Amino acid sequence: MNIQNKNIVITGAANGIGHALAKRMSEESPQSISLIDIKSSLKEVAGSLNADSYILDVSNEHDFQTVLKDIINKNGSIDLFCSNAGIQKFGTLETSTSDWQKNWDVNVMSHIYAAKVLIPHMQKQGSGYILLTVSAAGLLNMPGAIAYATTKHAAMGLAENLAIMYGDDGIKVSALCPQLVDTDMVKSFGNIPENHPLLKDGLLSADAVAEEAVCGINKEKFLILPHKEVAKYIQGKAFDYDAWIDAVRRLVP
Ligand SMILES: NC(=O)c1ccc[n+]([C@@H]2O[C@H](COP(=O)([O-])OP(=O)(O)OC[C@H]3O[C@@H](n4cnc5c(N)ncnc54)[C@H](O)[C@@H]3O)[C@@H](O)[C@H]2O)c1
Repeated sequence: MNIQNKNIVITGAANGIGHALAKRMSEESPQSISLIDIKSSLKEVAGSLNADSYILDVSNEHDFQTVLKDIINKNGSIDLFCSNAGIQKFGTLETSTSDWQKNWDVNVMSHIYAAKVLIPHMQKQGSGYILLTVSAAGLLNMPGAIAYATTKHAAMGLAENLAIMYGDDGIKVSALCPQLVDTDMVKSFGNIPENHPLLKDGLLSADAVAEEAVCGINKEKFLILPHKEVAKYIQGKAFDYDAWIDAVRRLVP
C-alpha cells in the first residue's frame, strides 16, 4: 500500500517505535495523521508533526473506540491503523494476576477493541491496512518475561486471524516483529551486558524499525522482520521444536 494521501492512526506514538513510525510516515504526504498515547507528552510530538493527538488508555474499550469513531468522523476514514502501544515487564511465575491482566489488556485486547471498530469500517470502504506491532517474542518466546511473551504470542495469533478472515474484504494486515529496539522499553531493562545473547543480532534504532515497517507496508508483507535473523530462527523452530527449546533454554538468565 502506498501511504500517500492516506488517513493514518498510530497508537503508542509519544515514544519509541510509535514516534518513529509517526515521523517516517509523515514524510510520505499522508492525508492526516492521528496519534494516540496515554502520556500527555504526545501533544509535543503531534505538534512537531502537524498531527492530531488523543491522550487515552488503549486498554479502555469505551474511550479507545469512541476516539477511533471520532477520528473516522473527522477525517472521513482510517486507511492505515498502526496498533503499536505495548507494555513489557520481566518476571516468571511470581508475576501477579493484576500484571498478567495489564499485559493482556494492552498487548492483546487493545488490538481487538480497535479491530471491532476498524474491520467493519474498512469492509464498508472495501480497503484498509492494519499494522500490529507484535515482537520477535511473539514468534520465538522470551526467557524471563512470561506475561510479555505469552501475550505477544496471542497478538501474533490475532494478526494471523485478521489477515486470514478479512483478506477477501480488501483488508491487509502486517505483524511487525523486531528483536531489541533502542527505546525506553529496553532502557527500562537496565544495563544489558554487551555479550548478552539478546544483543547478538543488534539493538536497532526505532527509526530503522520504522523504515522497515514502511517498506513492508509498501510491499504488503504480512511478516515484517527488521532483524533478518528471525526468519532463520523460525525455520529452525519449525524444523526441530525440541532442539529449539533446548537452544532457548540456554538463554535463560
Ligand atoms: N523496544 C523493543 O525492543 C521492542 C521489541 C519488539 C517489540 N516491541 C513492541 O513495540 C511497541 C512499542 O514499544 P517501544 O519499544 O516503542 O516502547 P516505548 O515504551 O518506548 O513506547 C511505548 C509507547 O506506548 C505507550 N503506551 C503504553 N501503554 C499504553 C496504553 N495503555 N495506552 C496508550 N498508550 C500506551 C507508552 O506511553 C509509550 O509512549 C510495543 O508493542 C512493544 O511491545 C518493542
